[in-house]
Amino acid sequence: MEKTKKTASERGGFGSKLGFILAAAGSAVGLGNIWRFPYLAAQYGGGVFLLTYLIFAVTFGFALMLTELAIGRRTGKSVIGAYKSINKKFAPLGWLAAAVPLLILPYYCVIGGWVLKYTCVFITGDGAEAANASYATSEPEVSLTFFEHFISLVKEPTIFFIIYVVLTAVVVMLGVEKGIEKVSKFLMPVLLVLIIGIAIYTLTLDGAAEGLKYYILPNVKGYKPSDYLKTIAAAVGQLFYSMSLAMGIMVTYGSYMRKEDSLEGSVRHIEVFDTLVAFLAGLIIVPAVFAFSGGDKSALNKGPGLMFITLPKVFESMPAGQFIGTVFFILVALAALTSSISLMETVVSVVMEKFRLNRMKSCLLVIVLTLGLGILSVLGYSEWSDFTLFDMQILDFFDFITNSIMMPIVAFLTCIFIGYIVKTKYVEEEVTYGGKQFRSKKLYNVMIKYICPVCMILILITPFAIKELR
Ligand code: PHE
Repeated sequence: MEKTKKTASERGGFGSKLGFILAAAGSAVGLGNIWRFPYLAAQYGGGVFLLTYLIFAVTFGFALMLTELAIGRRTGKSVIGAYKSINKKFAPLGWLAAAVPLLILPYYCVIGGWVLKYTCVFITGDGAEAANASYATSEPEVSLTFFEHFISLVKEPTIFFIIYVVLTAVVVMLGVEKGIEKVSKFLMPVLLVLIIGIAIYTLTLDGAAEGLKYYILPNVKGYKPSDYLKTIAAAVGQLFYSMSLAMGIMVTYGSYMRKEDSLEGSVRHIEVFDTLVAFLAGLIIVPAVFAFSGGDKSALNKGPGLMFITLPKVFESMPAGQFIGTVFFILVALAALTSSISLMETVVSVVMEKFRLNRMKSCLLVIVLTLGLGILSVLGYSEWSDFTLFDMQILDFFDFITNSIMMPIVAFLTCIFIGYIVKTKYVEEEVTYGGKQFRSKKLYNVMIKYICPVCMILILITPFAIKELR
């Protein structure tokens, strides 16, 4: 950690505004957008979820991202040092925020391993098998899909998980993130175009129109108050996850940002890009679920497996699907890697700073922790599938603890800290630095002081109020 305040360029900051936006977007766009968003949208009411997400993204997401970037840029520090330097009493907030990536990283790498597995399946020309295979179980009535069978194993998911951790770790150890960023800057637009193409194709499938309606049009018929609460909690948790908020990452990114660039503009750009990718991923997966299940609603509740179950079917049905599927999974793996690299980088830098270890030793420590915690998530779906924590499998539990408990607490404390202790002027001064306008100032103040804290409390009590909420 820097003892003195350094400017962005001294800290090896970004050379241009676009460079900054792309790097932050590279961290933001990942499995959250492509894997997590569609399955939550499918599960939590389609259009209602989408609308809720969008409303929170442009209000709350905007306010929180602006706050984090401003704190980072103003203090010139990463998360732990930043909160501490503003107010010693709030140092624990920095710690809590920094603990989130440590818990996300392991299970993120498990899912990254699933993506690698599917990449291999498509490269070796077995896409059709992933779409159709059915495995018998000891119960004659029950058979497993390709995906269910895969995660029920121990060895294969573990191997792919380890490969994924190694890929992430090699980049962080060698410190060659810049190289990866360059590749991803080039490949992300390709991924976007590909997703648009696949979405257009999916929408032409028989039955997809029903799915499109479900995804786009909010239909609150039969919605109970508890359903609204669940949808809001899921949407806000997803917002944190997808935009890398409430875990100190944007504070660190802010510390690398140039003073002359517009904070408000950058936030809008990152948000639009991140939301667009998520929206398009949902536009492929949700209608495809309808098309391939013949409208069977229970197919929407597949949870974390939804993308892996649905996409091979889409690729199988399309011309040149094997090839398109291969390219798609390679690009998703890369998008995931840029995110897990930024996750691991954050954890490593906290370890380096606090335990005064060098980069290599910190990396090794983080790798061991990641492998240890990640294996638990792998086993939770296979050998230990009978073991649950609060009715959740281990991977889902890690996801829940971070997204529905820790991040709302971090967000709540950040709002109280900025809204009532240091006051919103602190952020305002940074936003208007160099004579810039703060266009959404009113919205920002209302959000940080009143609406966000209340929403966070609501979200925190939701799981306790509704037992079955996951
Ligand atoms: N936002 C990333 C995604 O959508 C996940 C992530 C979280 C990345 C935290 C970095 C830090 O996949």
